[in-house]
Amino acid sequence: MNNSDKNNTNTNGGVEIFSTEKALLLDHNYDGIRELDHVLPRWWVWLLYATIVFSVWYSGYYMLGSGPTPEQELAEEMTRIEALKPPTNAGGLPEAASLVSALGDTSRANHGREVYLGKCVACHGDHGQGTIGPNLTDEFWIHGGAPTDVARIVAVGVPEKGMPPWGPLLSPDELTDLVVFIDSIKGSNPAGAKAAQGEKYDAKN
Ligand code: HEC
Repeated sequence: MNNSDKNNTNTNGGVEIFSTEKALLLDHNYDGIRELDHVLPRWWVWLLYATIVFSVWYSGYYMLGSGPTPEQELAEEMTRIEALKPPTNAGGLPEAASLVSALGDTSRANHGREVYLGKCVACHGDHGQGTIGPNLTDEFWIHGGAPTDVARIVAVGVPEKGMPPWGPLLSPDELTDLVVFIDSIKGSNPAGAKAAQGEKYDAKN
């Protein structure tokens, strides 16, 4: 304990104390450690009050009131994320009747063309003439030429022959639109058409 500093010097353990601060010196002394009782800066005090107000609001809203729990917030975020994901169809197929009634709809065919240009050109050619995959404009089909056959093959693919399953990446509407588009290029006889493959299909619809 060293109480002598207080009375006769301007130093406190080697630290200089300004004469203006002397009045602020508290009388306790912890093993030579002294304290100046400075007034806290205004901004600091207001920050403290703000955190107090915030904590009252926070506990009121989240703990007592109607504020969402972390689980509810998570569920909300997950719903938002799910909504942003592209629609999936996981192999689900459009109804045969709605498929047939959609044929000939030009706006559906145009949308189907957009999907086709994004996903199918690489293997079936820009006009459906066929490259790696078969010609989609002729009357010959390996897996059947009925709209339901086409929809099914597009959805489930023929993975062992290099045709990917598209169902998981297409909404039922997009799948229908693709079938409508493929139907619309039937008989278009594009340049460079690939030789016929499969059986001749007689459309009766
Ligand atoms: C990676 C190449 C590839 C892509 C991309 C591809 N296909 Fe195919 N597709 C094939 C191959 C190869 C076959 C032939 C499968 C067989 O021999 O059984 C085929 C077959 C088909 C058939 C059946 C043809 C028949 O004669 O029965 C349809 C319909 C078809 N594809 C539509 C599509 C559509 C629509 C898309 C785009 C969403 C698409 N394909 C994308 C490679 C592809």
